[in-house]
Amino acid sequence: MALCFVVESRCGTDAKIMCMTRRILWLVCSVLVTHGLAGCEQQTLLTAEQLLNPDACQSCHPDHYQEWSGSMHAYASEDPVFRAMNARGQEETDGELGDFCVQCHAPMAVAQGVTEDGLNLDELDAPMQGVTCAFCHLANEVEGDHNAPIRLGTDGILLGGLADPVPTEAHKLAYSPLHDRNDLRSSTLCGSCHDIVTPRGVHLERTFAEWKESIFAQDTVFRLSCGNCHTRGRDGQAADLEGLPIRRLHDHRMAGVDVALTPFPDADNQRLDVQRELDSTLASTICVAPFAGGSEVVVRLDNVGAGHSWPSGAAHDRRGWIEVTAWRGDEVLFQSGHVEEGVPITSIEDPYLFLLRDKGFDENGEEAHMFWDIASVESNLLGTSVTLDPSDPAYYHYQEARYPILGAVPDRVTSRVRLRPMGLEVIDDLIESGHLDPSIRANFPTFDLESTVLVWEGDVGDCVGP
Ligand code: HEC
Ligand code: HEC
Ligand code: HEC
Ligand code: HEC
Ligand code: HEC
Repeated sequence: MALCFVVESRCGTDAKIMCMTRRILWLVCSVLVTHGLAGCEQQTLLTAEQLLNPDACQSCHPDHYQEWSGSMHAYASEDPVFRAMNARGQEETDGELGDFCVQCHAPMAVAQGVTEDGLNLDELDAPMQGVTCAFCHLANEVEGDHNAPIRLGTDGILLGGLADPVPTEAHKLAYSPLHDRNDLRSSTLCGSCHDIVTPRGVHLERTFAEWKESIFAQDTVFRLSCGNCHTRGRDGQAADLEGLPIRRLHDHRMAGVDVALTPFPDADNQRLDVQRELDSTLASTICVAPFAGGSEVVVRLDNVGAGHSWPSGAAHDRRGWIEVTAWRGDEVLFQSGHVEEGVPITSIEDPYLFLLRDKGFDENGEEAHMFWDIASVESNLLGTSVTLDPSDPAYYHYQEARYPILGAVPDRVTSRVRLRPMGLEVIDDLIESGHLDPSIRANFPTFDLESTVLVWEGDVGDCVGP
């Protein structure tokens, strides 16, 4: 077969007539091969095993490889918090959790039948870890909208968004709408993993569901798939080989909120990427109004960047909050949401704390942190745009936090929105149960969202912000 592929693969770069001749030659050649008449042996076509191995893609797709290597997709089953939670879940449910967690965090291992519960991840090879190239690029059918009902092709065809891919001797390839970010169907590939219904039936992570209700999922000028927002485009060659056309390529880092907590490729850049994405996600204003002989600080927050709620997804773990401080000279008149580094935000006494998160409860109505314990959810997130009609009350999705300053008027108010990818009390819960190494705790970042870092200095009645 090698000969046939060499002939076919050079085709794209030759003149039309040459190309035709080569295609005919290829046809003849493959007919001969399939009928066992020619003995051409394929040497460069990746074997079924290589196809599953991201390292086998590196030589021709070095940028995609590098970007993916530093992504949460690559980290998904290495993540010590994931390992800790899955291990604890297996114990506390007597193994009933089964492959529930690994079906998304190490989906190739589940597809290949090499893990049943993720407890043997340490023994598995790299190609079985995380969300791999092959898992996304072999996916040819999505049969539902949550818990990763994704079917993989068995024909070895790597699917992508290139409408006219240049044939290569390395692998078969074809266009697929599931991989084309300009086709809304591509959101089902991402969305079916980014939406979780737990074994108890709780719709715990809802990124896909939120997006489906938004203006971005409708055929409006705002039509934007997951990939439109999460895979920045750049121009270049899709493979590092001579003579390939310049195309629109897609960044595979896909930064969100989580970061690698242990040594990992490009970890510093991952933090910068997350920070950059977060910096333009919200819009915030501060107003100071007269109130009961004193004044009232009103902070308004709006989600202007995300095509779903903010935070989204693992919102039961996220802790987003407003820190606001009102001053008169050097004197602090009022403060809310102030917490020292390393202290859980939920542990402070603060009646005015404005917290954005999902709060999980177990069957007895007690607060619960773990997937398998959560029986219901109370949600306070910043919604996204769901309508373009200003007369529809749903048009407005901002939230306001109000802070009374009794008997006084500030001359300066500062505020910022802060986000921790995971509540430190959840980390502590995992450390206390002996599942997580305590040294990991110090690696959790607290992000300040730049567009929300505001200083108000004015007269009562004034506002700052966009
Ligand atoms: C010998 C080089 C080579 C290797 C190795 C290789 N590829 Fe490719 N790949 C190519 C070429 C050439 C293209 C076509 C580029 C173009 O059309 O501009 C391509 C295109 C693709 C596409 C786009 C398909 C489409 O239709 O949109 C995907 C996805 C892809 N490769 C994935 C992989 C994965 C995953 C691996 C590792 C398992 C891999 N490739 C290994 C050369 C290679
Ligand atoms: C097989 C399931 C699966 C598919 C398909 C998938 N993802 Fe993910 N994705 C994950 C998992 C699991 C993580 C989280 C890893 C972690 O945080 O430990 C993740 C992480 C992410 C993150 C980072 C989240 C964060 O908070 O750090 C983004 C952004 C993301 N995915 C976007 C996408 C997009 C866009 C697509 C479609 C092109 C996609 N994903 C397809 C499973 C999937
Ligand atoms: C989370 C799913 C996911 C993972 C993991 C993933 N890809 Fe992709 N990749 C995509 C999607 C979706 C596209 C198509 C983007 C488009 O055209 O809109 C794409 C496009 C490509 C392309 C075509 C050029 C481009 O940039 O559009 C190549 C080549 C490619 N991927 C290679 C790889 C390699 C190599 C790996 C692993 C090192 C990998 N991908 C991992 C989802 C993924
Ligand atoms: C209009 C642009 C846009 C669209 C469309 C969009 N996102 Fe996002 N997404 C964002 C922004 C902005 C953020 C917040 C910044 C960040 O966390 O990196 C975000 C955050 C995320 C996160 C991290 C959320 C968290 O709080 O943990 C995930 C995961 C994610 N998106 C996945 C998806 C998926 C899956 C889809 C499609 C179903 C999608 N996004 C559609 C812009 C978008
Ligand atoms: C349907 C796919 C899916 C399933 C099932 C799933 N996850 Fe995830 N997981 C994700 C995605 C997607 C993200 C990224 C979410 C985001 O950024 O909002 C994630 C993120 C995480 C994270 C890191 C983010 C955080 O702070 O929570 C941990 C830890 C985690 N999952 C643990 C688990 C455990 C344990 C289970 C099983 C009880 C599980 N997951 C089941 C898809 C899944």
